[in-house]
Amino acid sequence: MNDADIDLDRLPTDASGRLRGSVPVIDIGGLDESSRADAPVSRIAEACRDWGFFQVVNHGIDPALIAATIAEMRAFFAQPARRKEAILRTRENPWGYYHNELTKNQRDKKEVFDFTADGIDPVYCASNRWPDTADRFRETMRRYRDASAKLSLRLLRAMCAGLGLPPDHLDGAFDPDHTGFIRLNHYPVRDPLAERDDIAHLPVADLGVHHHTDAGALTVLLQDEVGGLQVCRDGYWHDVPPVKGAFVINTGDMMQVWSNDRYQAAIHRVLAMETSDRYSIPFFYNPSVDTHIVPLALPGSNEPPHYRTIAWADFRRKRTDGDYADYGAEVQIAQYRI
Ligand code: OGA
Ligand code: NI
Repeated sequence: MNDADIDLDRLPTDASGRLRGSVPVIDIGGLDESSRADAPVSRIAEACRDWGFFQVVNHGIDPALIAATIAEMRAFFAQPARRKEAILRTRENPWGYYHNELTKNQRDKKEVFDFTADGIDPVYCASNRWPDTADRFRETMRRYRDASAKLSLRLLRAMCAGLGLPPDHLDGAFDPDHTGFIRLNHYPVRDPLAERDDIAHLPVADLGVHHHTDAGALTVLLQDEVGGLQVCRDGYWHDVPPVKGAFVINTGDMMQVWSNDRYQAAIHRVLAMETSDRYSIPFFYNPSVDTHIVPLALPGSNEPPHYRTIAWADFRRKRTDGDYADYGAEVQIAQYRI
């Protein structure tokens, strides 16, 4: 981390959308299984290039499943601290509950619950921690995870088509053994570590999540109606306002590398909540454990590759370490730039 990096969080906010308009909202109803439909594909490609962010409506995920997932999430976080801390994550096993996360070595004002596929996950060789006696929670979360992964694959195909590649060009790096995971985010008004002398923590948590990019290919995020998510573009922070029934999509570091910088892994953050608690659920769509990421040869381009090969599992483990505690600077794709 260097000083220029820290200063990003001090940039002004373009609250009115006066300067650049706002993150596009795209109807993907026409995006079929092969994801070739022209109109959404070109809008998605444009959004990935200009913002690294867009929202999708008409996405096909059952509203009843969404409502049930939100209800289970709220009930989970409403439990007493000691019950949540019974499934606290550790350095070795990142799955479970956490309330002391660092982004770029600054503490975030939030609490989270992370889970991935069932069984032993191949990145950390660890398995999910579930709250005991909560079968309905687990079942609902699994269904939501599967629905998010399905939507992610459709979007991945649209992003490939938008680069002029066959839509299924990257399928092999994800299907069926992607290493994606779900995070339940609760951004409370009251700092979850306030008055906790028993847990070592940094005193200040002045943002919900400090600025960062997501490590994987793409993220499918469900946010409630509170707002606070912002994306950085051209020297300003821009709000990503809640749109009823929409998912927020952003591209991650690996998509930036694959696309040789045509698509941006946008820098984003969440403000600290002051008046109302906020909830969100990102699904991070990540490649299979053995994937090696290199810039793809894009039709009509003879640009040399901007990055050296990135071994996904290695990159992911290093990033997670930085989030858990201060084990040195977070790994960034800039370190792989040629
Ligand atoms: C994240 C993130 C945004 C949000 O968890 O990586 O950027 O709106 N979340 O909660
Ligand atoms: Ni993020």
